Amino acid sequence: MRKSFVAGNWKMATTTAQAKALAGSLLDGITSVEGVDVAVIPPFLAIPAVVDLLRGSTIAVGAQDVYFEKSGAFTGEISCEMLIEAGCGFALVGHSERRHILGETDPLVRKKLDALLAAGMDAILCVGETIEEREAGSTEARLETQVRSGLEGVTLEQARRVTVAYEPVWAIGTGKTATASQAQEAHRFIRGLLAGLFDEETAGKMRIQYGGSVKPENAGELMTQPDIDGALVGGASLKPASFLGIVQAA
Ligand code: PGA
Repeated sequence: MRKSFVAGNWKMATTTAQAKALAGSLLDGITSVEGVDVAVIPPFLAIPAVVDLLRGSTIAVGAQDVYFEKSGAFTGEISCEMLIEAGCGFALVGHSERRHILGETDPLVRKKLDALLAAGMDAILCVGETIEEREAGSTEARLETQVRSGLEGVTLEQARRVTVAYEPVWAIGTGKTATASQAQEAHRFIRGLLAGLFDEETAGKMRIQYGGSVKPENAGELMTQPDIDGALVGGASLKPASFLGIVQAA
């Protein structure tokens, strides 16, 4: 049985003071939840303060992005070593907003994933189709390209440190959630791709999170789907009661 994993992506929506307040209010509620891995993903600058606050708790802290080079003249970028020093054990790569607003490509996403795995960190690889791709019937083709480009050639040991987040672009921050059956269908397809790239056993152990307007009201039905192993939550993770509601549902 895969343990589910709920991670709150705070995007560029909290100052450090707000991030500390949010982390503080999650502490009490989450210590009483068992059987679910929980993480928060603050903006870079808030990471050290949130790590300090959550030290000794079961809530992990991750980063929203990372750069693939180890160090050097890369103005504005953050390396794996810097994240590890700050107390982060994992980072997202290929989030839809980075792909679609910041122009990140599949090859760049792959370099970032490789850098995380080489540094001993875990990765959440985000994939998902646009509304145009869904309407054109090319959802599976899009997912296949992103998953293959993201993971082909990764070793079995490394694959176990990767979570795939299926986040249909049209559902992120829009209030439109994929139905439980649309999400399950995409997750089953991704699980099949993972089995092809690795093996059934490894694919069965890897977690596939759903993301895109997850809220307490829809989390229960999504999480009961056999291939949905957790949630990557944006907007609702900024409200402690909503995030806790989703964690309880998982
Ligand atoms: P949302 O964001 O929950 O606000 O749709 C999800 C995400 O971007 O990971």
